Amino acid sequence: MSNLYLVGIGPGSGKYLTFEAINIAGSADILIGSKRALKLFPEVTAKKLELNAQNMHETFKLAVYKAFRGHTVVLLSTGDPGFSGILKPIQKLAGKLEFKVIPGISSIQICAAKLQISWDDINIITMHGKGIPDELIPLILNGKTTIILPNTTIEETVKYLLEHGIDPKRRAVVCENLSYKNEKIVKASLKEILNEKFGYMCVLVIY
Ligand SMILES: C[S@@+](CC[C@H](N)C(=O)[O-])C[C@H]1O[C@@H](n2cnc3c(N)ncnc32)[C@H](O)[C@@H]1O
Repeated sequence: MSNLYLVGIGPGSGKYLTFEAINIAGSADILIGSKRALKLFPEVTAKKLELNAQNMHETFKLAVYKAFRGHTVVLLSTGDPGFSGILKPIQKLAGKLEFKVIPGISSIQICAAKLQISWDDINIITMHGKGIPDELIPLILNGKTTIILPNTTIEETVKYLLEHGIDPKRRAVVCENLSYKNEKIVKASLKEILNEKFGYMCVLVIY
């Protein structure tokens, strides 16, 4: 029987939590997630552990160990666990331990919905924390719309595109803080995007 769960919590607002995510989080002995993920479950009485960039690997190891010992451990992943989420690192660590994945609404999905982009025929790429790959430029030039999770900032990605010959007049959209009260959607040319300041939680679309 599996007692380790990777639970997608969607883009951030409680409105996008699934019933399954709520039920499973409610069954946890140990609930682990980023500050913004844990905030969605104030009523859950489980022991809560906050994940951050510094403690991530150690905390994942602890989660697997505790689940091996019979505790019900729920790891919260923003968006969906399988897209730039916690699925990959847990697959590496879990060994023989079985676990379950509960899907959540990815930032890519809510972005596509807001902009009415049918995502069955577009490029989707996550560079989150991985650096900008050489394949980015050919992708942007293949005639399809591209949805990107940036490596670090929007500024870094847009400057890279411009420096690598992408037309500054290409239509672009930045979706920031999707589903939150301070959600911001900026539509402009690629070059004009550089006139705006954006934080960490952004999705970039290039038409
Ligand atoms: C570690 S990745 C997690 C992606 C997540 N698993 C998903 O399916 O959306 C974090 C990045 O996702 C994007 N992201 C997550 N939530 C977002 C939101 N509410 N609004 C805009 N971008 C978001 C941002 O690019 C952020 O830097």
